[in-house]
Amino acid sequence: MLENRRILLIVAGGIAAVKVPDLIRRLRERGAHVRCILTKGGAQFVTPLTLAALSGDKCYQELFDLKDESEMGHIRLSREADIILVAPATADIMAKMVAGMADDLATTALLATDKPVMIAPSMNVMMWTHPATQSNLQILKTREVKVVGPSAGDLACGEVGNGRMAEVPEIIAALTRFFQKNDGQGPLTGYKALVTSGPTHEPIDPVRYIANRSSGKQGHAVAAALAELGAQVTLVSGPTHEADPDGVNVVHVETAKQMMKACNDALPAEIVVCAAAVADWSPENAKQKMKKEAGKTPALTLAENPDILATLSQPGPARPNLVVGFAAETENLIENAKTKRAKKNCDWIVANDVSPGSGAFGGDNNTVHLVTADGVESWPTLRKRAVAERLAERIAASFQRHL
Ligand code: PMT
Repeated sequence: MLENRRILLIVAGGIAAVKVPDLIRRLRERGAHVRCILTKGGAQFVTPLTLAALSGDKCYQELFDLKDESEMGHIRLSREADIILVAPATADIMAKMVAGMADDLATTALLATDKPVMIAPSMNVMMWTHPATQSNLQILKTREVKVVGPSAGDLACGEVGNGRMAEVPEIIAALTRFFQKNDGQGPLTGYKALVTSGPTHEPIDPVRYIANRSSGKQGHAVAAALAELGAQVTLVSGPTHEADPDGVNVVHVETAKQMMKACNDALPAEIVVCAAAVADWSPENAKQKMKKEAGKTPALTLAENPDILATLSQPGPARPNLVVGFAAETENLIENAKTKRAKKNCDWIVANDVSPGSGAFGGDNNTVHLVTADGVESWPTLRKRAVAERLAERIAASFQRHL
């Protein structure tokens, strides 16, 4: 997908610039042409000679360089690319992009371009979470600037938090996805995905039921995000007020047993994401409406429901390649999620704290931790749509690694 793509790589002044030589190497291995612009700040971390040697092209630095201007004007530089990638993108360069400043070669090229732009932000956690940076980020997004990362972890400044530049494979996956989408394809084109979403309603009698507070927002967003990446998605949804996502085959069910059957009917699939809040038990269902009788309180007898996630994760030739569960916890979030992952035999678990006040059930935001065999990755609080996009991207990246 990156073969013969022309990438203008702007390297700004952040410690993550030290990852750029590896990024260039990996891009060139995939057949991409890389041309670099190095800012004054970037040159504090990586030399123009390194970038020129690895990219096999001149490394451009000065706006007013007569030789460069005669050979390759800054306008041509910005237009002769298929995409401009800013990595690392500092808070400073993001602010300059928003303001439309053009006080060096990098910002001038960014202002003069008619090509798509992708940024890989990297900075201290306080700088990243500062309202100014977050507001700049939103503005850049509304201008169709693509954003990859940042992720959470140890930062070079000694603090811990969100602000680490996306890793090289993540940036490559984002570029690959961009070009695939541009070519009318997605990284998950040709893959089938099954997603569960929403609550289940377990009837007590013909008019009453046991339910939970799941709105379906998270699961529906996952289905939409997978479809956007090209997957053929079946969404098995419990009762919700969410609209059916575009381009997704939706099967509406009510109970856990119906959800189990609809999931089995939707197989085979390469990808399964169980985001539904399935009732663990269902009451013995009275055929007629239960009558209120003075002095008598009816007792509910509960029977265990099938565990859909555990069933779909069972080893066997038909097991989907990647099964992702969600863990809704109110205490010991990570430990319980790890235990659930092992017990249900799924590959990944997305752990979310659903304590009262967290807003995870029914709200628009979610704070999740991705638990895999490789460890635990904590994501910042994001809109459920953004959680879904990030998860879908991780799923796509995991399939691309195995191609
Ligand atoms: O719908 P929203 O309002 O947007 O809220 C989103 C959410 C909080 C419901 C979602 O993010 C979430 O956490 N979904 C899983 C809820 C849940 O039932 O968690 P659990 O820890 O009880 O179950 C663990 C996993 O097993 C889940 O993937 C669940 O789908 C699955 N499960 C559970 C029981 C069962 N009988 N069958 C299952 O498949």
